[in-house]
Amino acid sequence: MRVLSGIQPSGKLHIGNYFGAIAQMLKLQKEHELFAFIANYHALSGGADLKELKQNTFEVAVDFLALGIDPDKTVFWVQSHAKEVLELYWILSRYTPVGLLERAHSYKDKVAKGIAPSHALFSYPVLMAADILLYDAQKVPVGKDQIQHLEMTRDIAIKFNNEHGEIFTIPEAMVEESVAVVPGIDGAKMSKSYGNTIEIFMEEKALQKRCNKIVTDSTPLGEPLDPENCNVYALASLFLDEQGKTELAERYRSGEYGYGHFKKELKELIWDHFAPAREKRAYYLEHPEEVFAILESGAAKARAVAEEKIAIVRDAVGIL
Ligand code: TYM
Repeated sequence: MRVLSGIQPSGKLHIGNYFGAIAQMLKLQKEHELFAFIANYHALSGGADLKELKQNTFEVAVDFLALGIDPDKTVFWVQSHAKEVLELYWILSRYTPVGLLERAHSYKDKVAKGIAPSHALFSYPVLMAADILLYDAQKVPVGKDQIQHLEMTRDIAIKFNNEHGEIFTIPEAMVEESVAVVPGIDGAKMSKSYGNTIEIFMEEKALQKRCNKIVTDSTPLGEPLDPENCNVYALASLFLDEQGKTELAERYRSGEYGYGHFKKELKELIWDHFAPAREKRAYYLEHPEEVFAILESGAAKARAVAEEKIAIVRDAVGIL
């Protein structure tokens, strides 16, 4: 089975990205053919600071490698290093009704948040469809916010296939229900564009400060707390097995601890979970030439697949 997923380098990776997508990718690369890429063209569509785009792209590559993407098993590349995707994006635009794009929640949400309604932001799902269809992905592990984009990809692919024969594989989203929407420090979906993230690789003090900012209710110290309605608990439970969760819930209900205590526990969980990755990250940051060599060899593998597919598509639609 071929599995594909991408992440925008529009800022630092956060634990929503990790549990929503990266953790699934790490699991899947063991048993399936994984295509993992950094969606740097997508980063042109939103409010990201372009002065930082090159550096962010490099750092997301470092983070992926540090977290365990294995370039010997997985095709790992930067989107812009296989430019066929832009050609497919244009060709697919012909099979994309404007009404389909107008219904996109993420477009409407981003515009409501003040991001300029550019053509790039509007046509972003077509580029995402090109990412997926160019590489004949069967499954696409993502968080819940991307499900509609997968549905649009399927619609576009079906429309194309109806006209030209079975050229594209019809992909399916893979969403892990328990981590489909990781909450941010304010309880809303964790998102770079909401400014409510906890970054995977924060400095230790900054991480504790960030955890301290998680919004909780105002139950006074000494009274039992309700784990089911607590953002700190929701985040901590991502790192715990069933027994760990039960024990944490018991401490919540015991009335012996306040939120300050649980915010420290959460910081420890995050800090310890990513400790091995943090070491690998420091290594790759000091050896950028290794990172670029890995990306180049990944790009060559991606291009080989992309060139073959785009030739079939060009032929089908009559591009000389
Ligand atoms: P992006 O960069 O916004 O997010 C990367 C991945 O992280 C998931 N995610 C979350 N999951 C759970 N809870 C959260 N709070 C949370 N925040 C983010 C996202 O669902 C996503 O899986 N359009 C994509 C990138 C992309 C792509 C693709 C993905 C471009 N082409 C092709 C798959 C296939 C995006 O902007 O993700």
